[in-house]
Amino acid sequence: MQSFCLIISTVPDSGSQRVKKDCRMFLSARRIKKCQFLQLIMTCFLFSLLMIYWEQFDNGVVSHMKSYSYRYLVNSYEFLNESLSLSKADLNGLAKYQYLINHKDKCKNQKVLLLLFVKTSPENSERRVAIRSTWGNETYIQTELKANVKIIFALGTHLNQYNGLLFQNQLLREDKAFHDLVQQDFIDDFHNLTLKLKMQFEWAHLYCSHAKFVMSADDDIFIHMPNLVQYLQELDGRGIQDFWIGRVHRGAPPIRRKESKYYVPYEMYQWAAYPDYTAGAAYVFSGDVASKVYRASLTINTTLYIDDVFMGMCARKVGVIPQYHVYFSGEGRAPYHPCIYNQMMTSHGHVKDIYHLWKEATHPKVRRLSSGILGKLYCTIIKVFLLCKPKYVDTYPCSAAFS
Ligand SMILES: *[C@@H]1O[C@H](CO)[C@@H](O)[C@H](O)[C@H]1NC(C)=O
Ligand SMILES: *[C@@H]1O[C@H](CO)[C@@H](O)[C@H](O)[C@H]1NC(C)=O
Ligand SMILES: *[C@@H]1O[C@H](CO)[C@@H](O)[C@H](O)[C@H]1NC(C)=O
Ligand SMILES: *[C@@H]1O[C@H](CO)[C@@H](O)[C@H](O)[C@H]1NC(C)=O
Repeated sequence: MQSFCLIISTVPDSGSQRVKKDCRMFLSARRIKKCQFLQLIMTCFLFSLLMIYWEQFDNGVVSHMKSYSYRYLVNSYEFLNESLSLSKADLNGLAKYQYLINHKDKCKNQKVLLLLFVKTSPENSERRVAIRSTWGNETYIQTELKANVKIIFALGTHLNQYNGLLFQNQLLREDKAFHDLVQQDFIDDFHNLTLKLKMQFEWAHLYCSHAKFVMSADDDIFIHMPNLVQYLQELDGRGIQDFWIGRVHRGAPPIRRKESKYYVPYEMYQWAAYPDYTAGAAYVFSGDVASKVYRASLTINTTLYIDDVFMGMCARKVGVIPQYHVYFSGEGRAPYHPCIYNQMMTSHGHVKDIYHLWKEATHPKVRRLSSGILGKLYCTIIKVFLLCKPKYVDTYPCSAAFS
């Protein structure tokens, strides 16, 4: 019994006090049987959690305990409907941002499989050049992959007034050449990412609401476009709806360490766990989800600047649940190997190597190597070796080796 109460008391949350008291009450009332039954249930519950979510568990068991108990024992995100919802009066007072660069007709009068937003900043022009000439080459996607994918670079304005003007002129020139920037007049800053996400929702709603899928990605992402297009075409053939996929964070706790990039003060978000969300590095959702989250995004307080969590809050509000795809990366980077390229969707943190990776990952030898029984066996062994190391490296999960 002692140990049971200990487990519970490591969960210092609103519910735990009560459970602890209950437990003592059970003992003093000599209702040992009932307590043992409860213990069994709890143990089974914790074990099944461990089994299902062992991957997340083994990178930070303790720090996640609190948020897991919040998610699984309390599991109430009513505050989205209450504390974080905007009143009618708030809605009228909301700042509206104007488009400085826009392409209203980009999707007009054509079927669009995927509308892909790349979150970028004014100064990251080299990354945009790299993307346009590798995985984000719309002409290549159209001719080689027979798919209509629209790529839009989403950005705000440069922080610095003087430099800002220089950057703005450069951006205008860049846009004249490629017609793929969309910019609003908010300051482009990490802490304004939620504004950038709202711009993406709004743009999709206003100018491309017929796109089958919408994607949001960082500008240091590598996307295996042939794999992704093939995957989305299959899903589209099945007429999929209510679809949202990526690397899912389940019941992640807000980070309270001041040094962290993702630090969120208690006043900004006072609850122990975020709603489930997909890592902002890259995620995809279907057109119907795009219109639902757009509407939800209009009613939620945007103070929380972590944009992927904001997406999670919008989705939670309209009851859309994220799915985990083992070949969507979070912060991490895929190992370099043809057996990985054969299945990868996205990999994060690529800037300099993007040309090389694109060439390697789309080389015909990738398919040859991993086809046939022997090829599959060989690749499984390689992938186990690359992904199932006991030491924690943030890449695809071990289970990806067997999929
Ligand atoms: C918020 O309210 C709506 C409608 O009243 C309901 O369907 C939804 O489940 C609620 N969401 C949460 C997270 O409580
Ligand atoms: C895009 O792909 C097309 C066709 O494959 C190619 O001709 C063109 O040079 C590529 N564009 C860039 C910027 O690499
Ligand atoms: C976000 O953009 C708004 C509008 O330009 C600006 O007033 C605000 O200072 C920006 N926030 C940050 C953290 O840069
Ligand atoms: C949003 O929440 C913050 C605190 O997290 C609060 O200061 C602000 O007034 C809220 N904004 C609106 C429009 O309700």
